Amino acid sequence: MKFLVTGVAGFIGYHIAKRLLANGQDVVGIDNLNHYYDVTLKMARLNQLVNKPRFYFVKLDLTDQKRVSTIFVKNNFQRVIHLAAQAGIKYSVENPLAYAHANLVGYLNILEGCRHNKVEHLLYASSSSVYGLNRNLPFSTVDSTDHPISLYAATKRANELMSHSYSHLYGIPTTGLRFFTVYGPWGRPDMSLFKFTKAILAGQSIDLYNYGNIYRDYTYIDDISEAIMRLQAVIPKANPAWVMEQATPTTSSAPYHIYNVGNDSPVRLTEYITALEQALGITACKNMCAIQLGDVINTHADTTELYKVIGFKPATSIQKGIKYFVDWYREFYKVN
Ligand SMILES: NC(=O)c1ccc[n+]([C@@H]2O[C@H](COP(=O)([O-])OP(=O)(O)OC[C@H]3O[C@@H](n4cnc5c(N)ncnc54)[C@H](O)[C@@H]3O)[C@@H](O)[C@H]2O)c1
Repeated sequence: MKFLVTGVAGFIGYHIAKRLLANGQDVVGIDNLNHYYDVTLKMARLNQLVNKPRFYFVKLDLTDQKRVSTIFVKNNFQRVIHLAAQAGIKYSVENPLAYAHANLVGYLNILEGCRHNKVEHLLYASSSSVYGLNRNLPFSTVDSTDHPISLYAATKRANELMSHSYSHLYGIPTTGLRFFTVYGPWGRPDMSLFKFTKAILAGQSIDLYNYGNIYRDYTYIDDISEAIMRLQAVIPKANPAWVMEQATPTTSSAPYHIYNVGNDSPVRLTEYITALEQALGITACKNMCAIQLGDVINTHADTTELYKVIGFKPATSIQKGIKYFVDWYREFYKVN
């Protein structure tokens, strides 16, 4: 099969492309290689892919509607895995337009590409952040996602709504993936594990927001890849018997579905730091700070439905996952 992977030089996109290629699939990868974080890391990921047979890279901004359309017409993709986005919560406070461009206009161009080219299945990245002010734990896909607390989250929720309209109007099967704090080798420099590791190795102190009283459902990258590999084969079907009055928010008469892809095992930030200290063999100097604007205190994925559909749910322990990250970090940045 031929896959389009957007955001292929990004953390998750790189891992997915690698898995698909290892499984003998054809992959066209798109990325604009923007400067949101260190481009040399994006290039290094890409360099792991470019020499593989069946991989073809196109440097492209998804807001370029003409070029996106041409790529769809030329390639006849069976599957699209859309991971490109302007990520990050803090950055959306200062740079709201970056989110409108990449996450809204960019995604609309992907939907249009799928609409006009008979793509069999579109999978796209959403986020646990859509749960916003929801206080029911664990977060279930039946819970409200009407109160996002960052523009990033609002654009991710918008992607889900845009997908529903296209699934309904044009019969495009779409699957939304609500990822919960993904971590692991080749991870993002703007995320806490990377920042903490860098600071601790440099002998600098680290900031623990909400005084360390934050819980995250940290999800290891290989578990994310496994879930996506299985979900790409589960194509949502239209359901003419569906009635609004008895429905849940993630079901529809249209071929549309959304899953939580998380570890179902939240970890307190302080415990996460302890695992990192053990992996590094260094005790960190910690500053206790107030919570940052737009951050939620708890995330916890209810993965019952994911497990029911694909017979798999993420389960890598943070001790293992953090060790794999630290091993990669030390080797990649040549630090002891
Ligand atoms: N990593 C996580 O913990 C996490 C959690 C929830 C959701 N997500 C979502 O998963 C997806 C992948 O996340 P990631 O951690 O790999 O992020 P990432 O920033 O590492 O990857 C995104 C890639 O998309 C590219 N990109 C951005 N805008 C683009 C545009 N307009 N045109 C073309 N390419 C563009 C970037 O250059 C980058 O390489 C994103 O949609 C993100 O919002 C990630």
